Amino acid sequence: MESKATDFNLPHRVDNGLAVWEEFKELTAKYNCISLGEGAPATMPPQFLVDDLMDAIKEGPANNQYTRSFGNPTLASKVAEVYGKKLCRTIDPLNEVNIGVGAFYVISDLLMTFVDPAAKEEVLVFEPSYPCYYDHIQYAGGVVKGAPLDLKDGKWVFNPDTFRKALNSKTKVFIFNNAQNPTGKIFTKDELLQIGEILKEFPNVIVISDEVYDFLTFDGQPFIPFASLGDNFNRTVTVYSGGKLFNATGWKCGWAIGPQQLVKPAGVLTYTSIYCTTTPIQVAMARSLDRIYKNDYKDGKNYVDTVCKEFQDVRDLFASELQKIDLPVKTISCESGYFMMLDVSACTDLIPERFKASHDFEEGSEPAAVSKNRFFMEDGRVPLDLAFCRWIAVTRGVVMMPCSLFYHKTSAIREDKYARLAICKGWDTSMKAVQRLLRTI
Ligand SMILES: Cc1ncc(COP(=O)(O)O)c(C=O)c1O
Repeated sequence: MESKATDFNLPHRVDNGLAVWEEFKELTAKYNCISLGEGAPATMPPQFLVDDLMDAIKEGPANNQYTRSFGNPTLASKVAEVYGKKLCRTIDPLNEVNIGVGAFYVISDLLMTFVDPAAKEEVLVFEPSYPCYYDHIQYAGGVVKGAPLDLKDGKWVFNPDTFRKALNSKTKVFIFNNAQNPTGKIFTKDELLQIGEILKEFPNVIVISDEVYDFLTFDGQPFIPFASLGDNFNRTVTVYSGGKLFNATGWKCGWAIGPQQLVKPAGVLTYTSIYCTTTPIQVAMARSLDRIYKNDYKDGKNYVDTVCKEFQDVRDLFASELQKIDLPVKTISCESGYFMMLDVSACTDLIPERFKASHDFEEGSEPAAVSKNRFFMEDGRVPLDLAFCRWIAVTRGVVMMPCSLFYHKTSAIREDKYARLAICKGWDTSMKAVQRLLRTI
């Protein structure tokens, strides 16, 4: 008898379900949308990085071969130098840095290192959250625990009580995303101190501080790394993304910095799972890290300030133009990163019934229907934000992400009133998206 793939009884380390973005990628293609969905910038990386990569490749055999598993020594040293300043300490490049295939892989690798799958250990995240954490936690055999961020007077705030209540003797890791995706929140020094104080009650909790957007702060707001305060460094691995920093997300290179007893075992897993990260990309990023704060990039400004200004301008464009839209949406304060959020809750009565009644909102059968996220709210409703995003994609040709998908599938605190917009798509694309939303083209 012929065997089928379904006969193989494969282990389910992660759900077989649809990735959050898949439906919206298909919607973008089918309805010819402008995508403000995924966090991939629409711009080129800086030319100096591209030049550094070409030079690294041409320089000779060594830059084109395997490199050290824990990270190419040139990049590890540069990371220690540049990020040591941010973390206010001397970093040992050979023992306190691990480099992997993007922050995405680095975080997965850290969770695989820290979580004991046999012990049902909990991993705490703020919700709404970057959804990939949920898959990483499941893959590592951990149990997701969510603590809500609260929206007060149009600003996202940390709630010490709900955070404290979410911690317990089973908590192994707290994934702290600052600046936060999707809210764009930067945690204030007071909030960081409160988090550090509460964690003192739980000395065995390891913090993975995902700070991939640390350089992208708006309105001159300061960014304080969690590990730079008090003795937080001793329990914290801070994660950064060269892809995000250089507008080169496809290059997939990220780094982790933390105490040797946490970083070294993670490096052993890097070695086991991928052996090493792409050599010439590491060499190029090492050289380019020296350039990002030099005031010779554009109009006498450095690269980082230029990118911040470009993203901030797009954020402000959306904030002002969306006030003119014929829909009662509200933009929410955004302090950093690749995204901003919209409150769409007042649109309920305007969304046509077919988008709210079921997941099968498409009319006609040609061309083939897109794959669907078949999530329901606890009371059985199609999430309002999902209905909103589908409606806007189909009728106005702009894709946004529904934030109800940014909660864990078992989350008791899921909200369905927010849509997330990427502000990293450059002025021209964003302007076109605005025109489509306002129906002026
Ligand atoms: C909060 C956060 N962490 C990590 C990543 C992944 O970074 P990388 O592209 O370096 O893998 C992303 C990507 O969107 C993100 O938003």
